Amino acid sequence: MKKIILATLILALTALSVYAEGTAVVYFSATGNTERVAETIAEETDADIFEIIPAEPYSSADLRWTDPDSRVSQEEDHDSVLDITTRPRIENEIDLSDYDTVFLGYPIWWGHAPSILLTFLDSEDLSGKTVIPFCTSTSSRIGNSASELEEYEGSGNWLDGMRFRSRVSDNDIREWLDDIGF
Ligand SMILES: Cc1cc2nc3c(=O)[nH]c(=O)nc-3n(C[C@H](O)[C@H](O)[C@H](O)COP(=O)(O)O)c2cc1C
Repeated sequence: MKKIILATLILALTALSVYAEGTAVVYFSATGNTERVAETIAEETDADIFEIIPAEPYSSADLRWTDPDSRVSQEEDHDSVLDITTRPRIENEIDLSDYDTVFLGYPIWWGHAPSILLTFLDSEDLSGKTVIPFCTSTSSRIGNSASELEEYEGSGNWLDGMRFRSRVSDNDIREWLDDIGF
């Protein structure tokens, strides 16, 4: 009898580890706009939420995009995120092994995703996972920002991304989630 119980337990644990079924919201946000969207998505979809935390936080001086000497001006490339060689370090580890669906959020910087997203993707294998990119911006569209990340990552089933204006309402976020079946 004990053997049967043990075998059943082992089978159940194996099934749990092979079939990841949860939803995660992973985001980077320098000034809080993407964070707010990420929190709403997590609440509405009952997902776990993970922030990509830079080892060196971005100060407002770091974020001065009009200053060619600022940190962001030095770290980012204006033509394609794929040309960027800098990899801003990330403070925390994010383990996505329990999740089969990942919302991935970021602000638009010069039409692209910030390079810290590449640092994040460097340590992830998204095979078998559905990835739903979203971003916030003042006025730019999502453009190639999400497809560049997909190309860089090379794994995962990436759905069309969504761009929200920086101060999007919770209702608009809910409407989008509804449209995509959440
Ligand atoms: C370095 C930098 C570059 C930006 N480039 C753009 C841009 O190309 N187009 C745009 O509409 N907004 C741009 N913005 C504005 C941000 O995309 C917008 O404020 C976003 O909501 C910030 O998200 P966060 O608060 O999560 O960091 C830029 C902001 C910064 C700091």
